[in-house]
Amino acid sequence: MEATTSLLDAAAVGDLVMLDPLSEESLLRTLQERFSRGEIYTYIGEVVISVNPYKPLPIYTPEKVEEYHNCNFFAVKPHIYAIADDAYRSLRDRDRDQCILITGESGAGKTEASKLVMSYVAAVSSKGEEVDKVKEQLLQSNPVLEAFGNAKTIRNDNSSRFGKYMDVEFDFKGDPLGGVISNYLLEKSRIVRHVKGERNFHIFYQLLAGGSAQLLQQLKLRPDCSHYGYLNHEKSVLPGMDDAANFRAMQDAMAIIGFAPAEVTALLEVTAVVLKLGNVKLSSCFQASGMEASSIAEPRELQEISQLIGLDPSTLEQALCSRTVKVRDESVLTALSVSQGYYGRDALAKNIYSRLFDWLVNRINTSIQVKPGKQRKVMGVLDIYGFEIFQDNGFEQFIINYCNEKLQQIFILMTLKEEQEEYVREGIQWTPVEFFDNSIICDLIENSKVGILAMLDEECLRPGTVNEDTFITKLNQIFASHKRYESKETLNAKHVTDVSLPLRCFRIHHYAGKVTYNVTGFIEKNNDLLFRDLSQAMWAARHTLLRSLFPEGDPQRPSLKLPPTTGSQFKASVATLMKNLYSKNPNYIRCIKPNDTKTAMLFTPDLVLAQVRYLGLMENVRVRRAGYAFRQLYQPFLERYKMLSRKTWPRWTGGDREGAEVLLAELKFPPEELAYGHTKIFIRSPRTLFDLEKRRQQRVAELATLIQKMFRGWCCRKRYQLMRKSQILISAWFRGHMQRNRYKQMKRSVLLLQAYARGWKSRRLLRELKVQRRRHLAASTISAYWKGYQTRRMYRRYFRSDACTRLSNFIYRRMVQKYLMGLQKNLPPMAVLDRTWPPAPYKFLSDANQELKSIFYRWKCKKYREQLTPQQRAMLQAKLCASELFKDKKALYAQSLQQPFRGEYLGLTQNRKYQKLQAVAKDKLVMAEAVQKVNRANGKTVPRLLLLTTEHLVLADPKAAQPKMVLSLCDIQGASVSRFSDGLLALHLKETSTAGGKGDLLLVSPHLIELVTRLHQTLMDATAQALPLSIADQFSTRFPKGDVAVTVVESAKGGGDVPVCKKRGSHKMEILVH
Ligand SMILES: Nc1ncnc2c1ncn2[C@@H]1O[C@H](COP(=O)(O)OP(=O)(O)OP(=O)(O)O)[C@@H](O)[C@H]1O
Ligand SMILES: [Mg+2]
Repeated sequence: MEATTSLLDAAAVGDLVMLDPLSEESLLRTLQERFSRGEIYTYIGEVVISVNPYKPLPIYTPEKVEEYHNCNFFAVKPHIYAIADDAYRSLRDRDRDQCILITGESGAGKTEASKLVMSYVAAVSSKGEEVDKVKEQLLQSNPVLEAFGNAKTIRNDNSSRFGKYMDVEFDFKGDPLGGVISNYLLEKSRIVRHVKGERNFHIFYQLLAGGSAQLLQQLKLRPDCSHYGYLNHEKSVLPGMDDAANFRAMQDAMAIIGFAPAEVTALLEVTAVVLKLGNVKLSSCFQASGMEASSIAEPRELQEISQLIGLDPSTLEQALCSRTVKVRDESVLTALSVSQGYYGRDALAKNIYSRLFDWLVNRINTSIQVKPGKQRKVMGVLDIYGFEIFQDNGFEQFIINYCNEKLQQIFILMTLKEEQEEYVREGIQWTPVEFFDNSIICDLIENSKVGILAMLDEECLRPGTVNEDTFITKLNQIFASHKRYESKETLNAKHVTDVSLPLRCFRIHHYAGKVTYNVTGFIEKNNDLLFRDLSQAMWAARHTLLRSLFPEGDPQRPSLKLPPTTGSQFKASVATLMKNLYSKNPNYIRCIKPNDTKTAMLFTPDLVLAQVRYLGLMENVRVRRAGYAFRQLYQPFLERYKMLSRKTWPRWTGGDREGAEVLLAELKFPPEELAYGHTKIFIRSPRTLFDLEKRRQQRVAELATLIQKMFRGWCCRKRYQLMRKSQILISAWFRGHMQRNRYKQMKRSVLLLQAYARGWKSRRLLRELKVQRRRHLAASTISAYWKGYQTRRMYRRYFRSDACTRLSNFIYRRMVQKYLMGLQKNLPPMAVLDRTWPPAPYKFLSDANQELKSIFYRWKCKKYREQLTPQQRAMLQAKLCASELFKDKKALYAQSLQQPFRGEYLGLTQNRKYQKLQAVAKDKLVMAEAVQKVNRANGKTVPRLLLLTTEHLVLADPKAAQPKMVLSLCDIQGASVSRFSDGLLALHLKETSTAGGKGDLLLVSPHLIELVTRLHQTLMDATAQALPLSIADQFSTRFPKGDVAVTVVESAKGGGDVPVCKKRGSHKMEILVH
């Protein structure tokens, strides 16, 4: 309600349509009163008037955004957010593309307003990673474009020196998808010249203040504004503007938009080149022909520029100081005068910068553009330079004011003219409201045949000397009687003297006031010529970005067509813009500048009044008051509000107009509030519409409740029916389940009963059968006994004759069986030496028992033999052979039983000393041991090593380990040993053998039994003859001196292991053994 009150506040109505009485004074007073209360926004219907407060106000907080989000336009205090919200919702919900036209003088707050609209839309549209990125990119385009396109002017510290139209594109949900920015006519003359108190574009100051030392060094710049000619050699620091911080913000913004670091560097390099071009000084000199020529005064700057752009300094110097002129078919290089040189230099700087700006806009567009193919809704925001009236107005002001004139035309067309024409068209009773129609001014400028721009183009293209004098003369002729055009000549013709109108000037009566334009520079600026040598030089540079800005410099692509003039280009782009704006639903923000000094909250009534007048606000209010705030075709109107009457809701079958009439009649609005046109309904005051909307909202809420109610009822019914069905189903299943269970129980009981009954019956039957069987058995037994008795009685005689034999046989068999079974269980152990055997239990079994014992023993031995290894077998054979030779014949045999026959007692292989002996034995060795040899002459013993091989018997000296005697086995005739336990061996050799010549050998061996046994075995193997062995106490030996009878005597004197030999004469020897 507060807002409605504000709208109706008598002293400061929020909507000027309510102003009473309506006059310029009351309107101005209202604006001033509201402004003094800090209410800078005021409505005229749906047009927002914004008065620049020149100070930050606390009305743009997130809470405010929330307050205006989805608000009713007329239900809240006037605010820029309200129009933004209205436009956004209309776009989102009604699918109508919108444009927001922000107009006003320079410094009136257009750019700020456009930013507020953008930030509001960003805040209320939905959130999400992708959407937030798009929003951020769209918002961040501002700092970048402002750095390159804004400058301080006398009117505004942050004046936009270019026109900007931004189409923000949304998807069907109203989420931003991206956008497209169009820029219009950058004020490039500012690059080379600006008046005192103003500044060049912000970027130069930002770069010098905020660029790091390294960056500036890379760009070959000095952090000192006063060094640069294009900055007027001034240190320009603006209060409240931190250039360094803005530079950082701009860099951050570029990163967010998606500029690669290399792109940023290239951009800054080109910017630096522009700045440095201003410091290129030319000096005059004279050619031989006496013509003036120019040259570079101080080459350092030129060299640095050349280094930055990758171009030969001499090429650049030549392009700056001379020009190629085509004379017939020949190209001639002519030197430029100093002023021509400076002209070329400045044209180059302006061209580079303006083309760089276009590149920048295109680059931003590349980042924010929406992928093709997506369906989108568009909201355009136009922030274009405001109307300008300076002391000295040139070509730029002319163009800018033409653009503003066109915007005013759109405003007039859409709000005043079209509205009034619509009333007439619709047959509404209407008293026309007078307003100023500026079509005549637009036509004066843009008429394609006789418009000022067409004249200018014609003049530019005319061959021969072209200057502004002929241009103005032509204008004076054509527009001599034009109401809105005047010049010194036309006034003189009318005999009017106006000292304020000098020569070479013309004046146009714009909608916003009279502006005098000085034609000097019109042709040059319209032509916007850049010497071809310069564009070629730029194209020849290695700097990719700079090179790409001058495609016409490519000598391969000589373009014969003259480029379109600035005026015609601008006219064409304004025409496109107008077409674009016409296709959208317009929303107006009319910015007013309250004072000329940028002072906070200062309201200068005269200044505001002038703007109120030229903005046509009075006419605007008048038309709104006389006219109708709202109109709509009957069909959508009825569709929107049909729920307000029972007759039209839910369906109206008659015509749309009748439906609307019936509906509104039932709502009982005062008749003067409504008018019925041919196709549309008109509602006079916004309040009625507001009321209608309010009722609609209430009704919609009621209907929503009704729908909810019906829906809930339907849901509950459905649920109930479903539950009922389920309940029936469940009970059916449950009953079925119960019955099945009962049936199963009954079945079980019946089965049990049946089982019992059958069991009882079976048991009874069984009992009966058992009795019958017993009876049957008894009968069989009795009959068997009886039959047995009968048979026995019959056969008794025969039976008694062999009963005894049969019985005894049976008993014998049983006893034998028992004996054998018992034997099987009690078999003695398998050890070979175990000869135990169970005794026979009965005497008649003793033979058999003995036989079984011997069978078992043999079998045990066989098993033992089978598991013997060949070595064990050989040893046992040797042992067996020893037993055959010595058992019970020689006392030593008993001692040898426990000793295993090892054969090798010397360790031939281990002992290196016996190497030679080893060679003798090779692998034929049978036995090796240390023996004592009895000297045949004196009976003394000497140690010898004895080696028995398969072929020889070798005696060797133990010290030298040299064989002393080698005997072939066939030379051995026999051997003799005593019966005692001594180791004496007499080896009888054949007389015919070589060794036998010395007589028989007497040896004493510690392993006699083994030695003789092995000798015997080896001899058997070699000669298949047994060793003739005599075991006796006396035997004869053959000594070299004849036969000697040896007597072995067992005596205690016999010396230990070695026997004592005593010779008794030459043919007797007594040997004492122990
Ligand atoms: N709503 C506002 N609240 C506070 N200050 C504002 C507001 N609108 C504008 N200003 C102040 O006015 C100055 C000028 O505004 P702005 O740059 O938007 O003017 P403009 O209409 O775009 O001018 P130009 O045509 O020169 O670009 C801003 O720098 C700011 O200080
Ligand atoms: Mg601006």
